[in-house]
Amino acid sequence: MTIKANMTIDKEFKIGNIDERIYGSFIEHLGRAVYGGIYEPDHPEADEQGFRKDVLELVKELKVPLVRYPGGNFVSGYNWEDGVGPVEDRPRRLDLAWRTTETNEIGTNEFMDWAKKVNAEVNMAVNLGTRGIDAARNLVEYCNHTSGSYWSDLRIKHGYKEPHKIKTWCLGNEMDGPWQIGHRTADEYGRIAVETAKAMKWVDPSIELVACGSSNRHMPTFAEWEAKVLEHTYDHVEFISLHTYYGNRDEDLANYLAQSMDMDQFIYSVISIADYIKAKKRSKKTINLSFDEWNVWFHSNDADKKIEPWSIAPPQLEDIYTFEDALLVGSMLISLLRRADRVKIACLAQLVNVIAPIMTENGGGAWKQSIFYPYMHTSVFGRGVALNAIVNSPKYDSKDFTDVPYLDTVTVMNEEEDTVTIFAVNRHQTDTLELEVDTRSFEGYKVVEHIVLENDDVKATNQHNHSNVVPHNNGDAKVDSGRLAANLPKLSWNVIRLGK
Ligand code: AHR
Repeated sequence: MTIKANMTIDKEFKIGNIDERIYGSFIEHLGRAVYGGIYEPDHPEADEQGFRKDVLELVKELKVPLVRYPGGNFVSGYNWEDGVGPVEDRPRRLDLAWRTTETNEIGTNEFMDWAKKVNAEVNMAVNLGTRGIDAARNLVEYCNHTSGSYWSDLRIKHGYKEPHKIKTWCLGNEMDGPWQIGHRTADEYGRIAVETAKAMKWVDPSIELVACGSSNRHMPTFAEWEAKVLEHTYDHVEFISLHTYYGNRDEDLANYLAQSMDMDQFIYSVISIADYIKAKKRSKKTINLSFDEWNVWFHSNDADKKIEPWSIAPPQLEDIYTFEDALLVGSMLISLLRRADRVKIACLAQLVNVIAPIMTENGGGAWKQSIFYPYMHTSVFGRGVALNAIVNSPKYDSKDFTDVPYLDTVTVMNEEEDTVTIFAVNRHQTDTLELEVDTRSFEGYKVVEHIVLENDDVKATNQHNHSNVVPHNNGDAKVDSGRLAANLPKLSWNVIRLGK
C-alpha cells in the first residue's frame, strides 16, 4: 500500500540561518559519561591524557560543534574549584544529584582539552543551586581572563597559559524542578540569575548567557516561569533554555512518533512568551532559544533504581535505543530546524553512555546507537539555511495529538556548497509514502544520494556485538524536469541530498 504527499521547496522561502550550535550535545558528570566514556586512562585506546581515542573519533564523526558541561543536575552541587589543580589534591565528593561519588579526576581544564580534540566549543554551566555570584564570576575569570588577577594567574599556574575563551554559559540548570539541589521559585531564580549574569559579564562582556526555562512543557509552573524569569533577566541574557525527554511508555507507536509535536508546541510557546516580555519592555532585543537538553529517555528508568548509592561512575541512564527511537529523534531534529530562526542552540542529551548516541564498554569497544544516525546526518548535511517547504501530507490522529502529518520534513540549503538536503520521516506504519517535490527553484540540481534508515523490527537495537540499525543509501529519489520523486519506506528516516 502507498500514500501520497507533495511539497514545494524554493530558495526564497527562508526560515533562517542555522546556527551550528543547534547540533550541540552534552556531557555531564553522571554515570559513565566522563569516567569510562570519554576518559579511561587504562584503556588500550587511551591517549596521553587518558581520553579514549575510539570515542574521540566517533564524536568527530558527529561533527559536534558545542558540548554543554558539567551538568545537568550535577552542576547544582558542584564546586568547580574541586576540579582544577593537581589531580592528587582533588577531593572526592558526594554528588547528591545522582547519589554517586565524584572523584574530580576530570575538571574544567581537562574537559577543555578534550573539547579541543573533538573541535567543539564548550557551553559551560555555573552552579546556581548551592553557589552563586561569587563562584560564577570567579570561574569566568579563571577561564576567560588573560592574566594578572588571582583566578587567571591560578589557571596559568595550573598549566594553562592561554585563556579558554568560553563564549556560551548556562545560568544554572532546571532551577524550576523540585529535584534540583537549590530549587527556587521563578522570582528567586530570576533575581539570582540576573545578578550573576551582571557579574559574569563585568568580568567578560563578550560572553553569551542562557537563563533557565522550564524543565519541560508539563511543569506546573511552565509559562509563568519563563515570563517571570525573563522579566528579571531580559536585558542581561541572550537565551532562555528548554528541556524535554520522551518515551514510548504505553507502547503506542502512532502516539510516540507524534511526540515531536509537543516539542513544536513547546518551542512556539516559549517564543511567544519571550516576545511578550519583549513587547512589555518595549525592547529592541530578541531573546533566542537554547534547547539544551532533548532526547528519548525512559528505557533505563527501572535499572537506575537499583544502583548502589555512592558508587563511582556506575552505569546510569544507559538507555539502549531502538529503531523507533531513532525515528522520533529524527523528527525532533526536524522540529528544531523548522524553528532555526529562533532555536540557535540545542544539545542532544547526552553524548557518551548516558542517554547517548555513543556507547562504550569499560576496557572494550565503542559503538553507535540507532539515534547516532539522524543526529549525524543532520549535523553533517544540515548546515546552511532552513527552508520553509509547503507540504501537503495525509494526517492521522493519535491518543494525544490530532492532525499528525505522516510526512515530517524540513529542507536545508547550503548556498556555498550548492547543495539542498531534504530530511524526512515517514510516520506511516504500513505504507510507503510516495513523495513528489517541486524543485523548479533549484534548476540543474540532481540527486547525489538518498540515505534511508529503515527496519522491519521497530524494537531493533545496536549493541556492542551487533549493528541491526544502520542506514543504507539505496533510496530511489530522482529529479526529472524540476520534479523530485521518491518512495519513503514505511517507518523510515530519509536524507535526500541534492547538488549540481
Ligand atoms: O540529562 C539528564 C538529566 O536530565 C540532567 O542532569 C537534568 O538537567 C535533566 O533532568
